[in-house]
Amino acid sequence: MLSKHIHAALNYAPIMSEYDLTHHNTLALQSATSSLCRLKTKADLNVVLKRALESPFRLVLGGGSNVVLWPEIKRLVIKVETRGIAIVEETNTHRIIEVAAGETWHEVVEHCVRNGWGGIENLALIPGTAGAAPVQNIGAYGVELESVLHSLVAVDLTTGQTYDLSKDECGFSYRDSMFKQAGLGSWLITHIRLSLPINWQPVLEYPDLKLDKGLQKLGSKLTPYDVFESVCNIRRSKLPDPSLQPNAGSFFKNPVIGYEAYEKLLRDYPDIVSYPLSDGKVKLAAGWLIQQCGWRGKRLGPVGMHTRQALVMVNYGGASADDVTALANSIKADVMQNFGVSLEQEPVNIY
Ligand code: EPU
Repeated sequence: MLSKHIHAALNYAPIMSEYDLTHHNTLALQSATSSLCRLKTKADLNVVLKRALESPFRLVLGGGSNVVLWPEIKRLVIKVETRGIAIVEETNTHRIIEVAAGETWHEVVEHCVRNGWGGIENLALIPGTAGAAPVQNIGAYGVELESVLHSLVAVDLTTGQTYDLSKDECGFSYRDSMFKQAGLGSWLITHIRLSLPINWQPVLEYPDLKLDKGLQKLGSKLTPYDVFESVCNIRRSKLPDPSLQPNAGSFFKNPVIGYEAYEKLLRDYPDIVSYPLSDGKVKLAAGWLIQQCGWRGKRLGPVGMHTRQALVMVNYGGASADDVTALANSIKADVMQNFGVSLEQEPVNIY
């Protein structure tokens, strides 16, 4: 008879073949991989690393909220499921929180605000895991991850070497990092460390937060939890819940154009939504451009652009990566034709 221990080991298989990924990507695209490794405990790391070093094609998967998965993935998929949140350092000015990569990002935010720790409350309800947050430098309502990240621990899967990287070594830019640039199979982020200020100051400049009069009225009584609640309400009012309407958040980046090109557009479209950048360039609201092209609330096959936020693509049921690509290409072509602006897809295509 098998011992209890062996039974437990058999139930929890860190390595699996032919694994269905349809429920492991927030767009719920039909997809499967020929080989999957689960990283759940510290002890799994050696198994995962050994497999990763043997496999030239890999995908590190967190919550699957920023990928477009093709039906047959011919890569080793490493699914990160590690847990743990702890304060690792506290000074007069900051507390450093270390978070295991597999933690759900929103739960980390909630844990912090419930403890009265401010700094990441504007990033509430962003789908995905803590380890995926640096990959696309998540951002919302005036805060980007790079402004609160202290450092992280990552393994280079091409060599097996572990690095402790400061935030300046992560190559962050708008929705981008060196981890995303390297492809989603090159680095395995195992932990992130957040630097949260002891003397917290709310960030309330984003138009949607300014409109929350209740929040503005709280003045010096305002807590990180109040801002967290407001952000949750705003997101719930305009963004679809991936568990009810599968989506990957913003499907395109907000495009950045030169000032001359912007002036030309402004003459033809005086109400164009734009944000000036410090380098003289201008960021345009992609949702506005897409809406002007008539795509808000419109479908193509089983996918469509959300009725309240034209930047978010929704899978209405049974979509594949081909359906997503067909809609993305139609939108890109229309925005190019009408505005001469090139849209860049935010989620990464995985074949
Ligand atoms: N707009 C429209 N029509 C639309 C959508 C937007 O006209 O259908 C215009 C509105 O004027 C609105 C403005 O665009 O005021 C900006 O829209 P919103 O505040 O919803 O923000 P966004 O620029 O569309 C970005 C991020 C979101 C983030 C919000 C809030 C990107 C690509 N997206 O969206 O991030 O939550 O700001 O900070 O930068 C994500 O990356 O997945 C994501 C959801």
